[in-house]
Parts: sequence; structure tokens; C-alpha cells
Amino acid sequence: MSDPAPIVNAPPVPPRHIGIIMDGNGRWAAAKGLPRLEGHRRGAERLIEIVDACIDGGIGVLTVFAFSAENWKRPLEEVSGLFKLGEWVLRAHLARLEKRNVRLRVIGDVSALPEFVRTPLEDVVASTRHHTGLTLVVALNYGARQEIVSAAQSLAADVAAGKLLPAAVDWSTIEARLQTAGLPDPDLIIRTSGEFRLSNFLLLQSAYAEIVFASVFWPDFDKAQLQLALAEYAKRERRFGLTGEQIQVPAKA
Ligand code: IPE
Ligand code: IPE
Ligand code: MG
Repeated sequence: MSDPAPIVNAPPVPPRHIGIIMDGNGRWAAAKGLPRLEGHRRGAERLIEIVDACIDGGIGVLTVFAFSAENWKRPLEEVSGLFKLGEWVLRAHLARLEKRNVRLRVIGDVSALPEFVRTPLEDVVASTRHHTGLTLVVALNYGARQEIVSAAQSLAADVAAGKLLPAAVDWSTIEARLQTAGLPDPDLIIRTSGEFRLSNFLLLQSAYAEIVFASVFWPDFDKAQLQLALAEYAKRERRFGLTGEQIQVPAKA
């Protein structure tokens, strides 16, 4: 029997879905003798720039980790400052999201957020639902383990109600219960600040993501840094369990 035809497995260029762990705001500020919240403010400005670059680069989905389920344990002043900043950013850039056809989506437990940020957020998610450009997913009060627990609870409830047989549970039944349901898996995860960990971000969805670690703090992650991360991603060979020989990267035209 002859070998199966080679499978074309070059990374999709541009990636369909980029996830970013925007880390290092606090250390950026400390290095400059500034308050941590100033680091967050500068980080928010960078986010606007990177969203624009992703739109211009034809990226389909950008998911940004803005506040983890574990970040509540930070000092109250920092937590409330972050939410005030989030509300301000939303208000200041709403017109831009509209103009650039961005569809906003949120993952994480939004119900626990303060009302002054939750309500405008839900309003913008609703008002941009029909947009067809970049899908910007903001992970707020998000944790992958918490997401998996919710999915397991939903499955268990369906099994207990007789709507689902345990043997019928497969990856697609679980995937449909994740908060990212309907989105492609991330092709590329970027983490800034020189830390080499995922910190409870999109653990299941990133099973085969390419991960790029940038040494700069998030407020220094500009468009040029994004291009470097994309260039590194483009060099990767995604094998998905196959051998290198089974993978044929098409020659560049
Ligand atoms: C990332 O920067 C932003 C949030 C987690 C909200 P950090 O605030 O974690 O900055 P470092 O890691 O302490 O420098
Ligand atoms: C991850 O950063 C969360 C966000 C970027 C929002 P952290 O700063 O909370 O992660 P750890 O604590 O260094 O792992
Ligand atoms: Mg951090």
C-alpha cells in the first residue's frame, strides 16, 4: 500500500485566531518609578494599537486576557482601578469599534463584575453583534479551569436529566459548552513580559497553538513586536502528531 498523500500543514498565515496574555504592566511601571495603574493605562493604549494592527493584518479573532479569575486577589485599589480603566477604554473607543466593524465578545464570569462596567460592556457586545470584521474577545474574570468546571456541570446536568448518554460525550460536546464555542482554536498565543506560562488562559483551546513568548512588558509591545511574533509563528511547523515527512509545506509563490 502506498503512503497517503502528504498533508499540507503550514501555519495559516495570517493566523485565524491570536490569543494574547498581556502581562507586565506592573513591572513596566515599577521600572519607571510610576504607580502600577499607570502601567495598566499604558497597557490599555497598546491594546488599542494592537487591535488596529490585527484588523489591518486580516486577523479573524483576537482574544486578550484582561483580568483573570485569580486577579481578584490583588489589592482592592488595583482591582477597582482596572475596572474603572476598562469602563473608560470602552467609552472612549466605542465609536472606533463601530467604525472598524469590530464585533466584541466577552469570556469569563461577567456577572461578578461591578455594574458600572458590566452594563456598558453588555451593551457594546449587543450593539456590535452584527459586525463582520475582527472578533475581539475580552477575557474578563476568566479562568480556563473555571470554564472547564462550568462545562462539566452542564454536561452532568444533561446526563442527570436523561438528555445525554455518558458514552455520547465527545470533544465536540465539550467544546460546545466552552465559552469560546463557535470560535476557531487559537493558532498563536503570545505572552509578554518574559514569563513562560499560560496562567489559566484557554488551556483546552490552546492544545495545538503555537506559543510565542516576548520578553518585553506589555506596554512596550508595539506593532513591530507583533510583526516579530507573527514572523516567528510563520516559521513554525505544525505537526499535529504526524511526522515531519508527512507534512508538506507549500513552496512560496
Ligand atoms: C498584566 O500586567 C495585567 C493584569 C494582570 C491585569 P500585570 O499587572 O500582571 O503586571 P506584572 O506582571 O505585575 O508586571
Ligand atoms: C495573567 O497574568 C493574567 C492577565 C494578563 C490578565 P498574571 O500576572 O495574573 O499571571 P501570573 O500571576 O504571573 O501567573
Ligand atoms: Mg503579571
